[in-house]
Amino acid sequence: MSSIKKVIVVGSGIAALSFVNTISENCQVIMMTKKQFSSSNSMLAQGGIAAAFSAHDSVDQHVQDTLAAGCGHNDDKTVQEIVRHGKDLVKKLVEEGCPFDRDETGIPQLGKEGAHTTHRILHAGGDQTGKTLVQFLKGKLGSHIYVYENHHVMDLLVHEGVCTGVVWKDEKGHVHTMTADAVVLSTGGCGSLYETNTNDPSVTGDGLMMAYRAGAQLVDLEFVQFHPTLLTTSGKAIGLVSEAVRGEGAYLEDESGRRIMKGIHPQSDLAPRDVVARTIFHEQQLGHSIYLNIRDIPRFSARFPAIASMCQRAGVDMASGRLPVSPGMHFLMGGIKVNEHGETTVPSLFAIGEAACTGLHGANRLASNSLLEGLVLGNNAARYIERLQTWQDKKLAPSIQEVWSVPTVSLAQLRKWMTAYAAIVRDEKGLQTLLDHLEQVSFQQINVKNITNEQIEITNQWALAICLVKSALLRTESRGGHYRTDYPNRHDASWRAKQIVHEQGHIYIVKNERIGAKWNVYS
Ligand code: SIN
Repeated sequence: MSSIKKVIVVGSGIAALSFVNTISENCQVIMMTKKQFSSSNSMLAQGGIAAAFSAHDSVDQHVQDTLAAGCGHNDDKTVQEIVRHGKDLVKKLVEEGCPFDRDETGIPQLGKEGAHTTHRILHAGGDQTGKTLVQFLKGKLGSHIYVYENHHVMDLLVHEGVCTGVVWKDEKGHVHTMTADAVVLSTGGCGSLYETNTNDPSVTGDGLMMAYRAGAQLVDLEFVQFHPTLLTTSGKAIGLVSEAVRGEGAYLEDESGRRIMKGIHPQSDLAPRDVVARTIFHEQQLGHSIYLNIRDIPRFSARFPAIASMCQRAGVDMASGRLPVSPGMHFLMGGIKVNEHGETTVPSLFAIGEAACTGLHGANRLASNSLLEGLVLGNNAARYIERLQTWQDKKLAPSIQEVWSVPTVSLAQLRKWMTAYAAIVRDEKGLQTLLDHLEQVSFQQINVKNITNEQIEITNQWALAICLVKSALLRTESRGGHYRTDYPNRHDASWRAKQIVHEQGHIYIVKNERIGAKWNVYS
């Protein structure tokens, strides 16, 4: 039996980096990413990482804010664990010299973002927290970590229900297999399903659908977070304007200067994201243009250098003190169902980061909790996998799917449908229309040797869209990132703690009651 455990990690964001920086040299780790190392949502994260460091704050208060933003759909135990453990991991990063923005005494500065009741967000490089963190963690990679860019993992190998490795394509299009003791998916969510989004273009739901095909459960797919403020010119979204800008005093107004968040929510411009995004959407439906008024922020360009240079590139005149904004898809609260170790429901398959659903975010993620979750889950999964037995002595003949059914829909069309019917507000008629469109798509049969990367992606995007839309149809209430105009009363009590699960072609509702390790399926 091989004593060195072999682990494949798919992806290169914060969760993946936390994983590879935790796992010991007793493991050989292959890190595969389908584009460049820098192609991840983590690299684009402006807003920072939430941790209760202030003397006026506590882990308990951070937990309460996370639960309030999540609209009663969070897993309380997970929230406690991630917020507590996350604070320790951020503290360690600070001690290791991670270049967070600090005051003159060297203490990290704490900013504020939506739905936080106090200042608790650490930033780096002003508005380049994700990039700074990725670079810092990448600089610490050990010699047992092998990084392969342009390795497109397209499927998982499964033997008798156990994940045994991956199928991947190289740059020339040649297909390969690689076995491992464990596979860790850190592939992000599915921002690319929407016309307007903040995600890296490489984030196409691959990990979710690979896990689904392997038999893993997917949950909470109906909960999609739209970020309220993307810089938008001539109807085209240019990029994210961090919520930290509102944390520093900016506010939303219409063309006449009317403050649109006044009277909508006690936290006004710093209300939870779902509330702010819906308010902007509603105002736009009424024909108003929405702006972020930044006049009260001194030294804007120094505090937010990446946003300032984006405005300059887009020809937006910052001297006017107003940035034109519009909401865009930002984050998927749902994903591959995992436990506290990142274990999916398929043995030897793990998921971490946005691809995973731990229950931390509930129906609406609290700002700057995702980098935190990535750090914790990557760390937990690495420590857990270390303790597992290897199985590499088993001789397996990997069997791969030879022929793929590729939907003939274009990505542009898919995004148009998703944006029209499954975005900030939804109703049964629109969702059913969307499902009909998706199900009427025709297919072409393509041999795995000839399939292109785009065809692999559209296959995943189409299938994920179907799962997401079915979940949205089934959840007949409004909660967090899922707002139904035909069920506008928020938080229907009969839906409390129910999750919609997708598994091997089936969809069903479960109640959040565990019987031992099993879910109690009652519908
Ligand atoms: C932002 O900077 O507004 C985004 C932060 C986040 O999504 O957590």
